[in-house]
Amino acid sequence: MKNPSPAPMVEPGGAWAPWRCSYCGAALLPHGEGLRCADEDRWFGTDGGVHRLLPAERRRALQPFLELYQRTRRDEGWRAERGLPRVPPGHPRAKLWAGRALRFERGLALAAQSLATTRWDVLEVGAGCAWVSAQLVERGHRVAAVDVNLDPFDGLRAADRLLDAPLRLARGEAEMDELPLAASSFDLVIASGALHYTHDLPRTLVELRRVTRRGGVLLVLDSPTYRRRPDGEAMVADRMAALERRYGLSIPRESQSSYLVRGELRGVFGSAGWTLEVHGWPGPLRETLRDLLEIARHGRRTARFPILLGRRDG
Ligand SMILES: C[S@@+](CC[C@H](N)C(=O)[O-])C[C@H]1O[C@@H](n2cnc3c(N)ncnc32)[C@H](O)[C@@H]1O
Repeated sequence: MKNPSPAPMVEPGGAWAPWRCSYCGAALLPHGEGLRCADEDRWFGTDGGVHRLLPAERRRALQPFLELYQRTRRDEGWRAERGLPRVPPGHPRAKLWAGRALRFERGLALAAQSLATTRWDVLEVGAGCAWVSAQLVERGHRVAAVDVNLDPFDGLRAADRLLDAPLRLARGEAEMDELPLAASSFDLVIASGALHYTHDLPRTLVELRRVTRRGGVLLVLDSPTYRRRPDGEAMVADRMAALERRYGLSIPRESQSSYLVRGELRGVFGSAGWTLEVHGWPGPLRETLRDLLEIARHGRRTARFPILLGRRDG
């Protein structure tokens, strides 16, 4: 995507993002209830605070994935809750959110050590209801969030439930491997519970680097990571079988998120131009003991959720 001269970036509600035309890459300007590409005389509507920047044929292609994803998430009770990742005592997912909150704060502390400034321009990809973005807006950062899911309870529109002034958060309907955003725009790019949804990890990592400033950081949180690929495949197969039983449907593999493989991380991040640090992976003794325990309990090794920090040094 080409990177012409920057547009005025502040939106009427105070949000900031260097949005670009999804078709030609030209700068977009606020125009009526949407954004306009002057180069192609093309207009993108803004719906419930979300810029609809996904090209129409990609929206059509993603529809089957989204229908199943939204149905599953609704049935499992996932929804935006004010204050996330903090939840009240007795919350049905209290343990899960406690772990997520710890990794979120630790990840931000690691990012802060790498970044030269204290006020950051942040992009969150695969943001869902954008609780991570909402936290960062409240801490004074300028934040843009993208996702393909606009669901009012669990997708980008649900951010309205998390912020007093949701228009301070820039939101765009977009895919993480084809971002309608100017190059070298963000100090921090975050994928929280999201990177394992890409079907093309190398391409996505290159795209995330394109929009990151030199000296900037990519923070990957809560993507299931396995030492061995067969354990990841077993997890996906188990989940597909459970969905097939629940809905009586045949579940295509492409509709499912995936996982990362520990031994492949350094190579795949390195090839995309990131210097990778892996935090929170246990030492060999703890790893073996935990594996034995999980095999006894679940019949297979389960995922780990390391914090991955990529630095764009060059
Ligand atoms: C498990 S949710 C994570 C939501 C949130 N970031 C969190 O931490 O709770 C994964 C999100 O990734 C989004 N997603 C899946 N594929 C995507 C893609 N290609 N581009 C952008 N977002 C995507 C889904 O729509 C979903 O909202």
